[in-house]
Amino acid sequence: MKRTKANADFSSCLIGWQTHHGRNDLPWQNTRDPYRIWLSEIMLQQTQVATVIPYYQRFLKRFPDVKTLASATLDEVLALWSGLGYYSRARNLHAAARRVEERGGFPDTREELEALNGIGRSTAAAIAVFSAGRREAILDGNVKRVLARHFAIAGYPGETVVAARLWSLADSLLPETGIETYTQALMDLGAGICNRGKPRCGDCPVNSSCMALAAGDVAAYPGSRPRKPLPRKSIVMPIIMAGGKVLLVKRPPTGIWGGLLCFPEFAETDAALREIPTRFGCKVKAHRELELLAHGFTHFSLSIRPVICQVTRGTGTANEPGVVWLALAEAIHAAIPAPVRSLLVGVAE
Ligand code: ADE
Repeated sequence: MKRTKANADFSSCLIGWQTHHGRNDLPWQNTRDPYRIWLSEIMLQQTQVATVIPYYQRFLKRFPDVKTLASATLDEVLALWSGLGYYSRARNLHAAARRVEERGGFPDTREELEALNGIGRSTAAAIAVFSAGRREAILDGNVKRVLARHFAIAGYPGETVVAARLWSLADSLLPETGIETYTQALMDLGAGICNRGKPRCGDCPVNSSCMALAAGDVAAYPGSRPRKPLPRKSIVMPIIMAGGKVLLVKRPPTGIWGGLLCFPEFAETDAALREIPTRFGCKVKAHRELELLAHGFTHFSLSIRPVICQVTRGTGTANEPGVVWLALAEAIHAAIPAPVRSLLVGVAE
């Protein structure tokens, strides 16, 4: 797609607006350190700025540079990520840190960044822009919405043809100078003005050229996904307690909650009660079912039936690997998924 006068107006309006109305004091700004920028962009994938900030600061305190991160264990990385969700990001981050160390530093082109674990085209572009001033286009979910509305691009952006149009448009809009400010402007506009639910069109710096607004149909863009209901999965999670300690099992390295500590998982309460003695070497003295807990994933919804089981540990030896007994306070701070943490906090109260 060609760069036109209208496109140049779009980028210069955004640059002028960002300078005065955008976010310029976020913890990952005002640096060219690719490590800090990379970390922020990974944490910010599908996660809001306000949620990310405390995690980002804790993470940097413990791992101030890529070398420290590369030499840490995955468990320690997961523990600091615990609660932020989408844990494959943490596993990829750790793997990518080791590759960066091996190659002697971060690459500074979009293509090479994209070859690292967990970095897609848009994230690679954001890192290349902010750490090296490369003229690359970003296109995350927020930016897709901004462009789909402003240029009235119909269709669901998850579809290949629609995505291809948006990428080509995003490329054609890049300014000759000021790429960092322009890229931040798109992010700020998407997060603060051109929101999904209630866009603030009156405050938008490019409202006079917005095609969706002119047609009085901002809500129609971007087109939504043809919806199939999410599959549901129900599981029972026994919270096995003995003498103030709780039993957790380390999950396999891949799949949901890969590498995190979790309660064991069963299809039914009866199966849990039957198998706990043989699997974990302890005897159930009393059990009580708790309220169902719902947890949404991108691809399915999970309904968890927690069952508190008071046990005597007997030999206390488990017949399988990855089983640990932790004091409640210690368990709450370990690498565990959010629903496990909320159940443990409930038990501790
Ligand atoms: N979302 C993704 N990257 C971001 C950034 N660098 N600043 C603010 N929000 C973002």
